[in-house]
Amino acid sequence: AAAETVPEAVPETAPATVPDLFTWEFAADPYPAYAWLREHAPVHRTRLPSGVEAWLVTRYTEARQALADGRLSKNPVHHSESAHGKGKIGIPGERSANLMTHLLNIDPPDHTRLRRLVSKAFTPRRVAAFAPRVQELTDRLIDGFAGRGEADLIHEFAFPLPIYAICDLLGVPPEDQDDFRDWAGMMIRHGQGPRGGVARSVKKMRGYLAELIHRKRETLGATAEPDEDLISALIRASDHGEHLTENEVAAMAFILLFAGFETTVNLIGNGTYQLLRHPAQRELLQKSIETGDMDLLGTGIEELLRYDGPVELATWRFATEELTLGGQRIAAGDPVLVVLAAADRDPARFDEPDVLDLTRRDNQHLGYGHGIHYCLGAPLARLEGQTALATLLTRLPDLRLAAEPDELRWRGGLIMRGLRSLPVEFSPE
Ligand code: HEM
Repeated sequence: AAAETVPEAVPETAPATVPDLFTWEFAADPYPAYAWLREHAPVHRTRLPSGVEAWLVTRYTEARQALADGRLSKNPVHHSESAHGKGKIGIPGERSANLMTHLLNIDPPDHTRLRRLVSKAFTPRRVAAFAPRVQELTDRLIDGFAGRGEADLIHEFAFPLPIYAICDLLGVPPEDQDDFRDWAGMMIRHGQGPRGGVARSVKKMRGYLAELIHRKRETLGATAEPDEDLISALIRASDHGEHLTENEVAAMAFILLFAGFETTVNLIGNGTYQLLRHPAQRELLQKSIETGDMDLLGTGIEELLRYDGPVELATWRFATEELTLGGQRIAAGDPVLVVLAAADRDPARFDEPDVLDLTRRDNQHLGYGHGIHYCLGAPLARLEGQTALATLLTRLPDLRLAAEPDELRWRGGLIMRGLRSLPVEFSPE
């Protein structure tokens, strides 16, 4: 029942009038609607499912410009509706300061200070040293279903891998990691699930992190050779004598979990799905991995991010003053959403943007954002994505979809793009 017959290039059938956005059909395939917007209304005001009105930016040039525009603030206090729109934007159950004062919600100079400090702890070197552990986690998860001949790759693989990886990196003890898995599961479902449940999960996670940080701080004071986990490194990080406060360490740990979890689930989920739908590309990748050539894996992951990336829309931005973008006047206080998924299919920037080409080199996609909020976790995401896909293709070489593409359900949240489940079959190991 696999979709081995899907052509490489899916023809773009853009609708004739303003398309319906945020429906289930749209969630399954938003790209034709985005093609329409890029062409006819590249900076488009729309009402979101929450009732908030926002501008959608869909062309590459304006998207990149907006991501780097200092007049577009990340701080929700600039939202014109914030007085009565509270709770519609941000993490449910987290309206107060505390965990909300994290990198994605603040502007310079606070952002500059926090980002500099976290960059001292969350270094590319730390991520590179983590590679064997990611490989171990990946193999352990595949061991769990490899003998069965079938699996749901979202639930059994793409979902647990990033949460265990980030817990390990932060220094959450193994015996507590399943709690995180449950809390994260509740958060990822919040598009459909009870908001009360999400708020409770956020609260439990916050309580746990506060206690863990407190314990780590005491250990750091007591021993000459402190733990080398990321939370300890965050506590110790200093810049010109400045340190992160206990609350800032907690907010940082939380945003690393929050920003690094569902995104990576979707990179592995969407990436595997698209490879299974593009047999020629998948074969090319499989052959190059077999011969030990990892170059195509590198460009391939970037192409999968461009073609069907985890983050459909960048997180909220608010105009601090009146400004013009793509010829549209945007009023002070208006929310602006940059549609990364639309910009990354812009034919003005990418040759044959609707073709998945793992060898693509001219590929400055916006999947990780752009400017001062550019993804801090990109090296870790690349490591996890590359390890996950390479190991799957190597250990389960005849992996195939066990459902028709139109039977698959997409999550349909506002910011993220990802599958709810991904049933596959293969010869048991
Ligand atoms: C920021 C994408 C994985 C941590 C961002 C932004 C994007 C993004 C688009 C910018 C959002 C904006 O400007 O509104 C992704 C994708 C990932 C991924 C596609 C996986 C494939 C991770 C991981 C971590 C992480 C694994 C950490 C463990 C962060 C943080 C920020 C961020 C902390 C905020 C940076 C700042 O505001 O200075 N990410 N991300 N991300 N990401 Fe990622």
